[in-house]
Amino acid sequence: MASSSIFMVTLLAIVLLVFTGSSHAQLSNKFYSKSCPKVFSTVKSQVQIAISKERRMGASLVRLHFHDCFVNGCDGSILLDDTSSFRGEKTAGPNNNSVRGFNVVDQIKSKVEQVCPGVVSCADILAIAARDSVVILGGPNWDVKLGRRDSKSASFSDANSGVIPPPTASLSQLTNRFNNKGLSQKDMVALSGAHTIGKARCTVFRNRIYNENNIDRSFANTRQKTCPRTAGSGDNNLAPLDVQTQNNFDNDYFKNLINKKGLLHSDQVLHNGGSADSLVEKYSKDAESFNSDFVTAMIKMGDIEPLTGSKGEIRKNCARVN
Ligand code: HEM
Ligand SMILES: *[C@@H]1O[C@H](CO)[C@@H](O)[C@H](O)[C@H]1NC(C)=O
Repeated sequence: MASSSIFMVTLLAIVLLVFTGSSHAQLSNKFYSKSCPKVFSTVKSQVQIAISKERRMGASLVRLHFHDCFVNGCDGSILLDDTSSFRGEKTAGPNNNSVRGFNVVDQIKSKVEQVCPGVVSCADILAIAARDSVVILGGPNWDVKLGRRDSKSASFSDANSGVIPPPTASLSQLTNRFNNKGLSQKDMVALSGAHTIGKARCTVFRNRIYNENNIDRSFANTRQKTCPRTAGSGDNNLAPLDVQTQNNFDNDYFKNLINKKGLLHSDQVLHNGGSADSLVEKYSKDAESFNSDFVTAMIKMGDIEPLTGSKGEIRKNCARVN
């Protein structure tokens, strides 16, 4: 090839890279490598302490990142307390009495502020803490993309607007809600595998264990023992999302679905004769492919509409705007 055509091909490749790159957020793995190289060890040791105190906290931190990203992007908005100028996301339907881990995030933030004040965003702390939690509980590792900035506001009504899928959702509703955030059905199924850890309240699975037929009878009977039929009684009683190993990040969640032991309606619809069945079966047999697709999907989810450049701010306290 003539050197001029090599030059043209190279130029074209660079132009393409610049354009495709800029349509995405400018997050990068190395964002804090000069400004806060200790961010990873600082966050990880705090996550480790929190999980040692309470194993469930790993699950709660993973879920916080998800609920942050689905409402106006990964901008730390879920962490803001209500103020006189806005009502925030904490008490919105999908979060109230449900999302947890705020104290742990505030603790991580205060340690990070000690090593590099005013540098690391709360939105990035959520992304790192979610990754660390997965790793500590035995799941896959990955490089977290960073450079998100924090919102200066939060919206109760946006968190209630139906962007976060409810546990009553059908397969097509789940798929649509993830599609709306640029995530595929495959991403949705892989991310649902996060239900290999953590717990749910009786109120979100009561209807399934009393009224649905695509459920293992003995599993339903066991769950009924601590989740009374009558609405209002035992609403906050907890059960593990993964009946086998609620503190291990593994692929048991998918095995459970095949055995009709999904706890939520929205879990079991992934394996109920529909278009996600084959993927659930694959993940149930192949932990490596689940891990790899989960990582890909977590990185995509972490890329949802971040504030970058000079947008937003780096909060000093994750619960308040500066
Ligand atoms: C596919 C749609 C999803 C639905 C309908 C859904 C719904 C739920 C519900 C209802 C709970 C229990 C909440 C409670 O009882 O208070 C829960 C817990 C949880 N969810 Fe999801 N979820 C979905 C996707 C995800 C995704 C994408 C992730 C993360 C990548 C995730 C991570 C978790 C975790 C880790 C828990 C346990 C939290 C804890 O124990 O504190 N979920 N989810
Ligand atoms: C949130 O939960 C608390 C405690 O159960 C309840 O009193 C409050 O009304 C709930 N808030 C909203 C907005 O539903």
